[in-house]
Amino acid sequence: RVPGPMLLGKVGDRVTVNFRNDLPEETTVHWHGLRVHAAHDGSNVSQMAIQPGETYTYEFTLTDAGTFWFHPHLTADEQIERGLYAAIVVRGDDEIPADTERMLVLDDVKVESTGKLSETITGLDLMVGRQGNVLLVNGEKLPTLTAPAGGRERWRLLNTANGTFFNVTLPGHTLRVIGWDGGLLPEPYEVDSLVIAPGERYDVLVELAGTEGDTLELQTLYYDRGHELPDLGARPIATITLAAPPESPAPALPARWGEITPLPITADTPRRTFTLSEEEAEGPDDEPRFFINKRAWPDVDPLVVGSDALEIWEVTNDATMDHPFHLHGTFFQVLDQPHLGWKDTVNIPQKSTVRFAVDFDNPGLWMYHCHILEHTERGMMGVLQVGE
Ligand code: C2O
Ligand code: CU
Repeated sequence: RVPGPMLLGKVGDRVTVNFRNDLPEETTVHWHGLRVHAAHDGSNVSQMAIQPGETYTYEFTLTDAGTFWFHPHLTADEQIERGLYAAIVVRGDDEIPADTERMLVLDDVKVESTGKLSETITGLDLMVGRQGNVLLVNGEKLPTLTAPAGGRERWRLLNTANGTFFNVTLPGHTLRVIGWDGGLLPEPYEVDSLVIAPGERYDVLVELAGTEGDTLELQTLYYDRGHELPDLGARPIATITLAAPPESPAPALPARWGEITPLPITADTPRRTFTLSEEEAEGPDDEPRFFINKRAWPDVDPLVVGSDALEIWEVTNDATMDHPFHLHGTFFQVLDQPHLGWKDTVNIPQKSTVRFAVDFDNPGLWMYHCHILEHTERGMMGVLQVGE
């Protein structure tokens, strides 16, 4: 099924995954956002590829409450596009009173008029990440959700698309953002629409206005992520039908939310700089290439970071398209913006610089890369060694 089965656990659970590769090609499974031991991270550098017919056992302990996901890390542009992904929800001390909680996994697929998944990959698809013509929520096209009128819902939003950015809005409502990739924020904030780059997760509360029988439309709005992609206007992603109001109004919102201490950066905290760049295809048989500091995976040298090193990473996007930057093995705090929270994937808008603080407390070999999967697979990925 697409998405695959959601894993649901709680902080402290020990997880064993007995994996068998029934694909006709090699693969691995990466646990995006989970702070596992490096040997179980399922990236290109943490293990040998799992061959067709082979098995592998992943083991880890769930350390953080939040929304995560798992997916292959080899030929990811194709394997994830074809549906190999699923959400992970880890419960902990982040329970918020709500009438309903939903996991909303967002994706898009390119479908032929026959209903089959298109095998055609255009030059534009390679450049900006495959663009679907059908939007999916939990693997369904335009599903209808039933929700109590006046009720409070908690939505865990995850974007698993190869390259499509969602800009989610529910007209007439504000979305109260309560969590990011790494769990609850200390201070929620409200938005009218929310840009979700590939790989990112956002946890939001919404109070559904209206009366029984009303229909609301969850939409994705145009977001300019570069390369002059056309403005397709507001596109519906799900319909919400309002049912009878909840028996009793939802209890008051908590006075305290997540507890996060800002990382103790100073003027002396070491900085590392990264530049993202791209090179267009030179002819019809050529493919575009994507680089971090002018190097393209697999032709990269590992960066070496001392364990427990606190660093500031400064990522500059030199290209005329956004690139969502993902770091394995730990969370980071994005600087120069108003909210405190933990992230493992952050959008680097075209022609701009994003800085984040990160404390490398998880030794081993890790990867960092753009989460537009066509870019990951065409060079925009690097390796990091934490500790000896
Ligand atoms: Cu979700 Cu290295 O990826
Ligand atoms: Cu990219």
